[in-house]
Amino acid sequence: MPQVKKAITVPELRARKGKTPIVCLTAYTTPMAKWLDNHVDLLLVGDSVGMVLYGMESTLGVTVDMMIAHTQAVMRGAERACVITDLPFGSYQESPEVAYRTSARVLQETGAAGVKLEGGEEMAETVSFLTQRGIPVLGHVGMMPQSVNTYGGFGARGKTKAEAEKILADGKAIAEAGAFAVVIEGTLEPVARALTDALAVPTIGIGASAACDGQILVAEDVLGLFSDFVPKFVRRYAELGSEIEKVVARYAADVRKRRFPGPEHCFGVKKRKR
Ligand code: KIV
Repeated sequence: MPQVKKAITVPELRARKGKTPIVCLTAYTTPMAKWLDNHVDLLLVGDSVGMVLYGMESTLGVTVDMMIAHTQAVMRGAERACVITDLPFGSYQESPEVAYRTSARVLQETGAAGVKLEGGEEMAETVSFLTQRGIPVLGHVGMMPQSVNTYGGFGARGKTKAEAEKILADGKAIAEAGAFAVVIEGTLEPVARALTDALAVPTIGIGASAACDGQILVAEDVLGLFSDFVPKFVRRYAELGSEIEKVVARYAADVRKRRFPGPEHCFGVKKRKR
């Protein structure tokens, strides 16, 4: 009988605080989820999908329907990892009730284990509303891409005393409101370290240093499949984009020189006898 794999749960991830590091990557499609599933604890269907797969300049154009379609695709490929999906811009900020409707729809239509939302003190009431009603929430503080227009860019946060204090207050507020873990993005090391030390739940860093309880990166960044820009915090473990170009160049040359298809790829062509 094939072994039935049990998915990692939200309480299991929460209990990893201060123990073994939590390994996370983004995934947007079924094949990517299948490749990553055995090796990561959490797969995030991030709204970065808008920039990475759709060529958008920010995440602001991503819709709930897009997130649902990509989360359904990831769920088809993931068996072991805990799948969390991003609430896109405009789908939750208005009120706790709106956030609940969106989250309930996303979880009902996808089967994901929880949602991620950006925001700190101002979102604490919403995080509390959701978590008290059965919706696990992964928080996201520091550099929040959905606020790119407020910041004027995607640069690191926590550089001034005021910014550092705000990030600490944000992380504490959403953890106290019930978030099971908090993503800290693009934040100076001392701030990420202080927040990690202060919280009873795990922090998951992206450009926030090794002080965090776990790490997340965009899979396409790790694999060298996204080249529009390479953030300082990314380690590229492969250059698959260049590999794809080389392979496609070989295919194109074979078609142009009529080396492909060969007889073995054709119907009704007998193999030549030697
Ligand atoms: O959208 C995303 O992919 C994210 C992570 C990289 C944290 O928010």
